[in-house]
Amino acid sequence: MQNELFGVPNLDIYLVMGILVFFGMLEVISGYLHRSQRKSDDWIQEFGGFLVLSLAIKPLIVGCAYFFGTRFFGETQGILNTTSFWLALPIYLLVDDFLQYWYHRSAHEYPFLWKLHRAHHQAEEMGFFVSYRNAGLYYLMMPNIWWVGIFTFLGGGLAVAAGLVLKQLVIIGSHSTVTWDSIFYKNKILSPLMSLIERIIITPAFHHAHHGKSKLDGVSDPNGNFGNMFSIWDQLFGTAMFTRQFPKEYGLMNDPEEHWTASYFYPVITADDKENEMSRGYKKASTAFAEPTIVHLEKDKNYLYCQCGFSKNQPFCDGSHHGTKIKPLLFTAKRTGKVKLCNCKLTKGAPFCDNSHEEF
Ligand code: FES
Repeated sequence: MQNELFGVPNLDIYLVMGILVFFGMLEVISGYLHRSQRKSDDWIQEFGGFLVLSLAIKPLIVGCAYFFGTRFFGETQGILNTTSFWLALPIYLLVDDFLQYWYHRSAHEYPFLWKLHRAHHQAEEMGFFVSYRNAGLYYLMMPNIWWVGIFTFLGGGLAVAAGLVLKQLVIIGSHSTVTWDSIFYKNKILSPLMSLIERIIITPAFHHAHHGKSKLDGVSDPNGNFGNMFSIWDQLFGTAMFTRQFPKEYGLMNDPEEHWTASYFYPVITADDKENEMSRGYKKASTAFAEPTIVHLEKDKNYLYCQCGFSKNQPFCDGSHHGTKIKPLLFTAKRTGKVKLCNCKLTKGAPFCDNSHEEF
């Protein structure tokens, strides 16, 4: 299963390591690592996650793909050997990225998958290693790692090797604190070019918005921008938000911070705190109730209204919607004064009460 990219054995592995070292050096030179407030738990999850993924999970999945492939689909082994590299590469990358878009999006919309992906969004700082921070089971079930094994088995190993290098370049770059796209935004000549680039590949600004704490800042969209390498899927499926600014705050709005073992080994190890969604048997309780709340709003100020009915800070969002398909509603107050906001979540004029609670 050794790939000879451009005639050099395992060149893809060296290039991916080189990309990591390159971004690592940039973060050191820029002073980021010195200023970082990361705790030891963060480093364990990110660096440990990287090692386990590279040395155990990926080889295991590729080995399984070969085992089942030779056992049940032996005649298909190597059928892509004669396919042009330039045809195999876009096929590999597009299928890979399409699978990863839907897997990643599902991890934000379904509770079990969200718990496997939650650690990724607990990071309160961006950084090149954040991309490796997920539960082990999240990677074991990741369809595009299986796609790596299948495509290699079919004979597309070279396309996989080259594709992984390109992908890592975009993904590690989009997580790094050294944001290469900032230079484009500041330059009048380069700025229009960026409008084209950001509509094809994921830029740091596009992905940092996904890691922002809340939509309230007008820059973040934690419930959108799910793409990994290409932004085309977000544009196609209505989840893209383009921005040229970066969030001031990263992480989760509501994070009880369980021990890293629960984050990485969920559901085998769970959190002790029964209020933590990573605890065994945890179920989100509805906090919706019939009566509206009278709140004082200030003109032109942004508010995030809870539409899922799970927030502990009704009628406002506290981030409890993660792991559901329901998103909060961002609205700007048109005047200063008191208004009645809906708590039953049945109103047709969200966020305002329209007396639908009488049917609650
Ligand atoms: S907590 Fe965010 S929408 Fe309900």
